[in-house]
Amino acid sequence: MTVANKKVEAELLGRDQVAVEFVLGFDVQNSGAPQAMIVDVKLDSASTSGCSLFEDRLLEFCRQIRALSDADRVQLLNPDKSVGTHPPSVALESFYRGLDGKDHVSILLRELVLKLQNRFQLPYQEAELCHCRAVPTAVVDRAIVGGCHSTLSVARTTSAGTSCGTCKLDTELLIAYRLGAL
Ligand code: FES
Repeated sequence: MTVANKKVEAELLGRDQVAVEFVLGFDVQNSGAPQAMIVDVKLDSASTSGCSLFEDRLLEFCRQIRALSDADRVQLLNPDKSVGTHPPSVALESFYRGLDGKDHVSILLRELVLKLQNRFQLPYQEAELCHCRAVPTAVVDRAIVGGCHSTLSVARTTSAGTSCGTCKLDTELLIAYRLGAL
């Protein structure tokens, strides 16, 4: 098996930063094509600041990763690809359920996994989300990661959506994406 490392980062509220290093293994599975799997997960302490809760959750995250079978690790890394005859196991479903939380650590872990899979993309791409109040998308997104999970709480925190209201649909999309509902 050949091994490669991939570091992915996520930011919390514009000041706290978390970085995780995924150790990936590349092996030949049933189909004969090389398939990647996660071998290990490490917190990159040199690139991580703030958010002490994250470390505890990452340890649990690592335990769940290590408990997966090789086939499940392949599927976790390549969710859109078949892994031969292996069905998704209970362990993999349990892993995904563990990322269903609405707390900011669950949201950041979801972001890190999506980045590892090259699938992280917010459903609203423009730099400014609320044109009436000139609120950047990044400000709205950080508010959502920090706990604003309704258009009303986003409006109270950022003022986005407090005039014509047409941006509320985009805010709802961002909330749904961040909570894993899209
Ligand atoms: S565009 Fe956000 S309130 Fe009008």
